[in-house]
Amino acid sequence: MENNILVEAIGLRKVYGAGVTALDGVDLSVRAGEFVALVGPTGSGKTTLLSLLAGLEEADDGTVMLMGNRLASLSEDAVSDLRGQSVGMIYQSYNLFPGFNVRENLGLPLRLMMRPPFDAHLRSRELVESFGLALLAERYPSELSGGQRQLVAIARALAANPPLVLADEPTANLDSSAARHIVARLRELADTGNHGVLMATHDLRIASQADRVLSLRDGRIVKETVLEPGRSSREVLAELA
Ligand SMILES: Nc1ncnc2c1ncn2[C@@H]1O[C@H](COP(=O)(O)OP(=O)(O)OP(=O)(O)O)[C@@H](O)[C@H]1O
Ligand SMILES: [Mg+2]
Repeated sequence: MENNILVEAIGLRKVYGAGVTALDGVDLSVRAGEFVALVGPTGSGKTTLLSLLAGLEEADDGTVMLMGNRLASLSEDAVSDLRGQSVGMIYQSYNLFPGFNVRENLGLPLRLMMRPPFDAHLRSRELVESFGLALLAERYPSELSGGQRQLVAIARALAANPPLVLADEPTANLDSSAARHIVARLRELADTGNHGVLMATHDLRIASQADRVLSLRDGRIVKETVLEPGRSSREVLAELA
């Protein structure tokens, strides 16, 4: 892929119903090795943007290039395959499968990729351990707290080692120590150089761990802040505020 660009949006527009312009000409790209944060008030278009980049919804205008493929030129099945292979989506509303327990939810991405059941089993065991979910592994989503569901949703999104992680407010329901742990994990993933992360958040402290912060207002990117490593968090927070 050209310049390691995992996903690129060019002039992206999305209008809902008779006149809510959720996205109004968005350009962005995320490369392998980058951790990019997306901030902006409620209703500014963060979730809409992530779902268009993942091909879950279609743009009204503009282009999404995912792993070098123009989404609009692919069939629905091809988009869904490409998403399954390349995107780990952490949904704002978790989207866990209610009829599957935690262990089974974590094994699903690999099962959907037709990987052998044993691989899925090993990977879900590894994730259960590393996300501290051992005591919850046999529980169903309805038996978990909001924060616990969120952790399962994050673990599941990372299960298949996707090159691109799209994370929609992944720490919104976590306590500050769990939130720091998750963000450190996303940071490490990007630092391997093999993955890119785009994360929507309302929390500027969390955003300050990114390489770049995109500020969305009324469906437009109104500011891009590049955060050089080594700056104090106070300085960074002042710049983002
Ligand atoms: N399916 C839909 N039908 C109609 N309008 C929608 C739909 N989804 C989103 N919108 C509208 O699009 C705009 C952007 O919504 P979006 O969910 O992208 O915001 P957001 O930045 O993710 O907000 P939050 O921080 O609350 O999650 C809002 O005005 C919202 O009401
Ligand atoms: Mg949202």
